[in-house]
Amino acid sequence: MIGRMTATAPTVPLPHGAALPMLGLGTWPMDDAEAERVVADAIGAGYRLIDTAENYGNERGVGRGLRAAGIPREQVFVTTKFNRRWHGVDLVREAFERGLDRLGLDYVDLLLIHWPNPDQDRYVEAWQGLARLLAAGRLRAIGTSNFKPAHLERIIDATGVLPDVNQVQLSPLVTRESTREFHARHGIVTQSWSPIGGQKTDVLREPVVTELARRYGRTPAQIVLRWHVQLGLVAIPKSSDPQRLRQNLAIFDFALADEDAAALTALDRGDAAGADSDAFGH
Ligand SMILES: NC(=O)c1ccc[n+]([C@@H]2O[C@H](COP(=O)([O-])OP(=O)(O)OC[C@H]3O[C@@H](n4cnc5c(N)ncnc54)[C@H](OP(=O)(O)O)[C@@H]3O)[C@@H](O)[C@H]2O)c1
Repeated sequence: MIGRMTATAPTVPLPHGAALPMLGLGTWPMDDAEAERVVADAIGAGYRLIDTAENYGNERGVGRGLRAAGIPREQVFVTTKFNRRWHGVDLVREAFERGLDRLGLDYVDLLLIHWPNPDQDRYVEAWQGLARLLAAGRLRAIGTSNFKPAHLERIIDATGVLPDVNQVQLSPLVTRESTREFHARHGIVTQSWSPIGGQKTDVLREPVVTELARRYGRTPAQIVLRWHVQLGLVAIPKSSDPQRLRQNLAIFDFALADEDAAALTALDRGDAAGADSDAFGH
């Protein structure tokens, strides 16, 4: 159960009024059984943001973990995402209902278009579907994932409705500068997936990162996650390890000097070092 002293992440306000914790738990590639165990443990450790997706095949386990954690539903921010087959105004409502059913919830806090899939060119319809759900009060926030500024411009022009969040691959090696600038201009919150570099975790072996870890007396992951926070980015690191899970959340009691944060940003290898959502999606 939750101790009184459990530390949670501060929150950032979203354009449509919800409050998003500044650090959350990623659940890919956990299966249902692992997600159930880790989600319950993470909530006990103070996590209040859980990220899942239809595509991960673990929403049932995430839902069971939420219930096992035994805290009021409204204290946890739950994000899920839907696949390309649901890109249509009415199809999005069906994707939403099916997601709720798998999660065993009455609502999700945030629903994302997982990838734009420009080859099928129906993400504007998907966005219209999400805007309708939001207007009907069925969820608290809506957003996109892996959208480039050109994709975002199209959905905003078509509907006048801003995404609360755009979740993109982002780390010191792929800093997505132009995407972050677009978000800042419009007030869209940036969420970082693979925030510590993903399963290969190259980022954590960068000499700049390991040197800062030594100097600050922190782990390489804590240094990188703190960099996200200081740039105003919401990171969702995945860990199934109880100790790393706790370490990753323990980043709100120190700060990187500006020049150290800048040295991390300077590791950028450009957008081409990350996934290209004009070429890949599901
Ligand atoms: N929107 C999208 O298209 C999209 C795409 C990919 C991912 N995501 C979301 O983003 C989340 C995070 O991305 P990700 O899982 O690709 O990458 P990540 O969180 O950057 O890295 C996860 C990897 O780092 C390890 N790790 C975690 N904490 C660590 C620490 N303190 N020290 C050393 N290693 C550590 C994990 O292993 P252990 O578990 O063994 O600790 C795992 O192998 C996913 O889980 C998913 O929810 C979204």
